[in-house]
Amino acid sequence: MQNIKPVTSRTLQKMKENNEKITMLTAYDFSTAKYIDECGVDTILVGDSLGMTILGYDTTVKVTIEDMLTFTKAVTNGVQRAFVVADMPFLSYHTTKEQATINAGKLIQIGAKAVKLEGASDFIIDIVSHLTQCGINVVGHLGFTPQYINTIGGYFVQGKSYENTLKLLDAAKKLEAAGICALVLEMVPEESAKYISENLTVPTIGIGAGKYTDGQVLVIDDILGKYPGLVPKFVKQYADLKEIMKSAITQYNEEVKNGLFPFKENVFNLTEEEKSKLEYNLVK
Ligand code: KIV
Repeated sequence: MQNIKPVTSRTLQKMKENNEKITMLTAYDFSTAKYIDECGVDTILVGDSLGMTILGYDTTVKVTIEDMLTFTKAVTNGVQRAFVVADMPFLSYHTTKEQATINAGKLIQIGAKAVKLEGASDFIIDIVSHLTQCGINVVGHLGFTPQYINTIGGYFVQGKSYENTLKLLDAAKKLEAAGICALVLEMVPEESAKYISENLTVPTIGIGAGKYTDGQVLVIDDILGKYPGLVPKFVKQYADLKEIMKSAITQYNEEVKNGLFPFKENVFNLTEEEKSKLEYNLVK
């Protein structure tokens, strides 16, 4: 059997120190996670973006801890090497430290290697510090934070001025001091993300944050061209799965309706002897 060395938070830290880019993709199911892992992607995020890509919601705020547990389990079942990060959904870490610990603990106990939380308010910093003291890896998430969509009021680039970049760096440094092992930076100007990345010890993983972050993350449905909704500017679509799926489904539908499928190779047959007995009995 092949000896697979799993990626850990320490590996990610070393990659930053050695200027090696970190790759991350989202996954929500067993087979996709398995392929991503086999392709050598370093980290897999079970993102609460599954609210949109899998469950068809308009935002991530409707995703529950039960949803995250189901899909995180499916992903961890398919992974041998990649570092699996599970999103803590909206309000699953905001009520009390105890509730945050119980929810994070459930995600870790089903195989996630880290949890990701959005924001850096004093309350969140306190939670991050508590979770890391419990032995739970935490990934931070700053810039555009989708769980705050209702208070942000739209999908806007964050840190667009010198002052706002400094504010983001200050928030990132607080998260770093509280113990995060990596930081996702979403929809931040490239220059701001570069400045923040250079001034942090922990690796940054960017999405819509330019090329100078220590790693990159994208949503799997976006890069495969599967999601039916709007695809953001920062995405590169590497395949057109939507069209491949539609063409296969159309062909299947037509072949069944026209009595073509199943073909000879798709059916089970009786032996000639059993068949003749059946035919004999049928004519009796
Ligand atoms: O939920 C998600 O997929 C994310 C990424 C956009 C970073 O948080």
